[in-house]
Amino acid sequence: MEYGCNDRVVLITGGTSGIGLAAARAFWLDGASVSIVGRDRVRGMKALAAIAGCKDPERVVFPGAKEGKETFTAAEGIKEENCSDPDFAENSALERLRFIRADVTKQADCRMAAVIAAHYGKERIHILVNSAGLYQEKRIEQVTAADYNRIMDVNVKGTLLMIQACQPYMLPHGEEAEIPGSGSGGNLSEETEAAKTLPGKKDRCIINIASDAGIGGNYGCPVYCASKGAVVSLTRALALDMSPDIRVNCICPGDVDTPLMEAQLKAAGDGYTKEDMAAEYPLGRVALPEEVAHVICSVASPANSFMTGAVVPVDGGLTAIG
Ligand SMILES: NC(=O)c1ccc[n+]([C@@H]2O[C@H](COP(=O)([O-])OP(=O)(O)OC[C@H]3O[C@@H](n4cnc5c(N)ncnc54)[C@H](OP(=O)(O)O)[C@@H]3O)[C@@H](O)[C@H]2O)c1
Repeated sequence: MEYGCNDRVVLITGGTSGIGLAAARAFWLDGASVSIVGRDRVRGMKALAAIAGCKDPERVVFPGAKEGKETFTAAEGIKEENCSDPDFAENSALERLRFIRADVTKQADCRMAAVIAAHYGKERIHILVNSAGLYQEKRIEQVTAADYNRIMDVNVKGTLLMIQACQPYMLPHGEEAEIPGSGSGGNLSEETEAAKTLPGKKDRCIINIASDAGIGGNYGCPVYCASKGAVVSLTRALALDMSPDIRVNCICPGDVDTPLMEAQLKAAGDGYTKEDMAAEYPLGRVALPEEVAHVICSVASPANSFMTGAVVPVDGGLTAIG
């Protein structure tokens, strides 16, 4: 699928797993330079291998990663023979894929991640996806102050800190004439005069991943719901403050088949299964991470240049039930 995000510099928190990983792969296949952020280098290595389509991600070794390197590209660890698709085994494609170790709850980590990712794009970031998140199943009478802080720190503060860290690199500075495709590898002569003036050609955007739980209520997870409601409100507020330079939108998935959903099923207990969950949806199933990734890339596409402040459910019709 082509989204027109080639030559874009993309930073994705939560890119080591689930929705963030699927979005990273979709942007990377589209030709973008993608940095994924996570707390754990081993998970980072495996994620790079999975995104690059390695036949055996477990066997990929990144020199220095286990010794504490803060960042590495896929090219540093992935060899051609380990890639299932020869087109993506090329060094130039693997150079476009990077892991950055950072905890989004820490301001210094967020700043470091922004600096490293911006380096890809001559000091600029075009797209920030905030997908790092935690789920918590606890009724109000069970919630402790520590539980509250843990969820709010990652889901809300982490989103805010990453936006703060990336904003200086997303604002246009002396690049008004820049056109995607005019940089390395692009072919300016193929651009028509009309295409050069499309507003989307200078597009910058932030996509926050909230949840259907940020739109309606959900049983047994009040702090998670509150955190996602905060992400929805933060999105709308920043869409106003950051206009016209940066578009800010928010995606609200229903249940998506990821490790987070598995944890949710486990926490629910009482034999509650994926099939039980699926039965609650008008579409009769939960989502695949790739289906949400497709919407993320579509919202981020420079062709989608008039959308900001939008809260987009991707939930198989769940929130359409009155
Ligand atoms: N799956 C669903 O059913 C569903 C539904 C609605 C909304 N969502 C939302 O979608 C987003 C992604 O969920 P998912 O299902 O893809 O979850 P997931 O597979 O569990 O992945 C969570 C990601 O968050 C990262 N993360 C957690 N804490 C972090 C921290 N302090 N610093 C940096 N990274 C951190 C993890 O990275 P490391 O562990 O490698 O650090 C991991 O990459 C979340 O915001 C979630 O609330 C999910």
